[in-house]
This record gives sequence, C-alpha cells and structure tokens, in this order.
Amino acid sequence: MSIEALFEAARAARAHAYAPYSGFKVGAAVQGESGAVYAGCNVENASYPVGTCAEQAAIAALVAAGERRLTAILVVGEGRTLVTPCGACRQRIREFAALDAPIHAAGPDGLRSSFTLDDLLPCAFGPDNLS
Ligand code: THU
Repeated sequence: MSIEALFEAARAARAHAYAPYSGFKVGAAVQGESGAVYAGCNVENASYPVGTCAEQAAIAALVAAGERRLTAILVVGEGRTLVTPCGACRQRIREFAALDAPIHAAGPDGLRSSFTLDDLLPCAFGPDNLS
C-alpha cells in the first residue's frame, strides 16, 4: 500500500470534517495489517472537549472492521506548521502499532514529513506494560 493511497483516503475524509468551531479540518488514514485502508476526520462538538480527532476515527474504523494492528498512518491538515497527531492520538496509535510504524504528516498538496511512532512518542507506555 502506497503513501499515495493513504494520502488520497485521508484527503477525501478531510473533505467531510466537521470543524465549525476551530475551522481546522483534519483527515487521517491508517493501513491495517490486511492492507486495507481506513480513514476518518475530526468531528467537533458545541461542548468542545467532546470533539474527536481524525486519527481517533480512523483507528475506530480499523477496529470496527475486525483488525487489531495498523502498519502506517497518515494525517493531513493545512497551515505552515506541520500537522502531526496530538499527544492523545499518539497514545491511541501506540495501542495498535509497532514502535517503528511510520507516521506521515501531509498538507493539502501532499506528503511533508515522515516519522516513526518511536520518534513521536519515545519511552511510550503501552500494552506491554500490562502483559
Ligand atoms: N485535530 C485532529 O483531528 N488531529 C490532530 O492530529 C490534531 C488536531 C483536530 C481536533 C480539533 O477538531 C481541531 O483539529 C483543532 O484542534
């Protein structure tokens, strides 16, 4: 599965983002172990803390499809500053991904930068701690 396919899925989901309060639309796509791609967008709420992130939606779609591992994730958002997953979403990714899983950050025009989960969430707490 190519980064391009993740980008297109995330970009399409971003077009449906519900972000009337921040105006900041985000799309995310994750690749499951099966190779399938699952996408999501942010969904805000008048009760601000209730809003959900794009990564959260994409991961929920992967789990709902019966998968338990993600092998790559791409996030797309706009602005001069790189859009990487928020701290809570890094932890959500940790639950289902290996530390070397790629996390790609894209803008509306394409890929901008790539990291691993370990880059963005070093010394992570995770399922291993409880096994
Ligand atoms: N947001 C995401 O969906 N993912 C991120 O990685 C960063 C932030 C959303 C949450 C909120 O709806 C908006 O972007 C502004 O924070």
